[in-house]
Amino acid sequence: MKSVYIAGRSGTSGLLLHEMLQKREDIRLLAPEVQGRDALDRETELLNTADVAILCLPSAAGKKALSRITNPTIRVIDTSTTHSVADGWVYGLPELKHGQREAISQARRVSGPGCFATGFILALRPLVDGGLVDPAAPICVQGIGGYSAGGKRMVEWYEQPKGDTAPFAQVFGLNLDHAQVPEMQRYTGLQRPPLFVPWVGNFRRGMLVSIPLHRDWLKPGASPASVREVLRERYAGERLVSIKTRGGLTGSITLSNPLGVGVELYVEGNDDHLLLMARLDNLGKGSAIAAIQNMNLLLECSEYAGIEEQF
Ligand SMILES: NC(=O)c1ccc[n+]([C@@H]2O[C@H](COP(=O)([O-])OP(=O)(O)OC[C@H]3O[C@@H](n4cnc5c(N)ncnc54)[C@H](OP(=O)(O)O)[C@@H]3O)[C@@H](O)[C@H]2O)c1
Repeated sequence: MKSVYIAGRSGTSGLLLHEMLQKREDIRLLAPEVQGRDALDRETELLNTADVAILCLPSAAGKKALSRITNPTIRVIDTSTTHSVADGWVYGLPELKHGQREAISQARRVSGPGCFATGFILALRPLVDGGLVDPAAPICVQGIGGYSAGGKRMVEWYEQPKGDTAPFAQVFGLNLDHAQVPEMQRYTGLQRPPLFVPWVGNFRRGMLVSIPLHRDWLKPGASPASVREVLRERYAGERLVSIKTRGGLTGSITLSNPLGVGVELYVEGNDDHLLLMARLDNLGKGSAIAAIQNMNLLLECSEYAGIEEQF
């Protein structure tokens, strides 16, 4: 039976991944009681034993863990942004383009997509590919995510009793150099980096990414309905990407439970300008679910094994 080791199991992504993989009977999860920095030798041994090692670590710790993998047969999924555009790494977004699943399944090194980047790329790439959006456009994007996107320290900080002093929302990408920008540019095919303004909100999970598109960047005639159709066609048959229309009492796009297992894409706006939106769970398709898809592809399991129960 194939074995899997999660480095960073005590973290926000690692915990959820561990919880989901623990239920699998077709893989052996190597999960000693003590691991990580408290048991480095043991961790090194497991990193060099597992068929697939999944690194759920901050960037610097992930690089160190990777340097401890000396067995060339180990296949690695790194959930950090370190290798998102690195040579020799395959981008772990199976829905990216035709052939991506096959590329992942053959890879030795897979880079897990960033949570905001997942929504951004899935919404925009088909429009750039299809000539509907000018790849030279100076795209701007905003995203708001729940505080679990900031890892366990941020979760602890928000969940400590604070009275009403915890902020409702914070903008944190003030230097406009968020670590997910390079993958956002590379995998949409944009000619220049998008300007990305990330926010964190006072809620645990969930994420909305919004991309307003000025008519000057659009192919003449592109309307919300026609672009929705392009996305529907592109993602027909995909189980984790769906195209939605706004609804509810206010006709708005809301972020509330249930968040769903995959990414929901919306195309709004008017006959001039368009608004693309993506809605997802940062810890789900934005992290653990993507890692499971990648792991399944590497191990030649059904891509949705361990995820299907959540549909
Ligand atoms: N959270 C999300 O929504 C999300 C989404 C997509 C991708 N990611 C990426 O996934 C990775 C993990 O994120 P996370 O949110 O799960 O982080 P997290 O909650 O902060 O957890 C980090 C994990 O790494 C361990 N760790 C931290 N520093 C370490 C060090 N110097 N040496 C060894 N272990 C160390 C922690 O162990 P201790 O418990 O001992 O501190 C913990 O197990 C990050 O690269 C992040 O960018 C996160």
